[in-house]
Amino acid sequence: MKRGEKGILILIGVLVLAGMLRSLLITSQPHDKEIPFYSTAGSAVAERAMSIYHQYGCRNCHTLWTLRDSLQSVPAPILDGIGSLHSEDWIYKYLSSSNPQAVVPSRLKLEYRMPSYADMPETDRRTMSQYLASLKVKDWYLEQLKKSEYEKLTGMDAPK
Ligand code: HEC
Repeated sequence: MKRGEKGILILIGVLVLAGMLRSLLITSQPHDKEIPFYSTAGSAVAERAMSIYHQYGCRNCHTLWTLRDSLQSVPAPILDGIGSLHSEDWIYKYLSSSNPQAVVPSRLKLEYRMPSYADMPETDRRTMSQYLASLKVKDWYLEQLKKSEYEKLTGMDAPK
């Protein structure tokens, strides 16, 4: 092989490699396998809140930690990351409201709407609010979560 030909082959090799590297960098999403949701709550609060969650049937309508009732068909917002959208105080007032639809309007039939938990013992409402407020979403997924909440609440596509 002549020197010139060798040089050209090496050049082609380098270009092919650079192309592969480039498409690798573009197609691989750095967050693909990372779960965007986490909680900052201690285990005592988390355990108590999850038992209230089951006791009051929140999961009949909501999804949390990707757990949902398999028969569930209510398009309620997911609760993962809810603490990045609302404060503990807001959640407490919402759960305590005798008319939650005055706080968050509903597009759904009466039986699917968020029920009032004004009758839930106050300590349980506090624990629940504390726990829900501790459910955060990582920054890179926040916009996506806001879109999903918007779509669940309005039944419309989020504005681009
Ligand atoms: C009958 C179905 C149903 C049950 C049971 C239910 N929810 Fe909801 N929830 C909804 C719906 C639907 C919405 C959206 C507002 C609406 O349509 O009333 C909602 C909204 C919420 C929101 C506000 C979400 C947001 O993105 O603004 C929170 C927080 C919440 N629910 C927490 C709970 C908790 C905690 C429980 C259990 C103690 C519970 N829900 C039980 C249906 C339900």
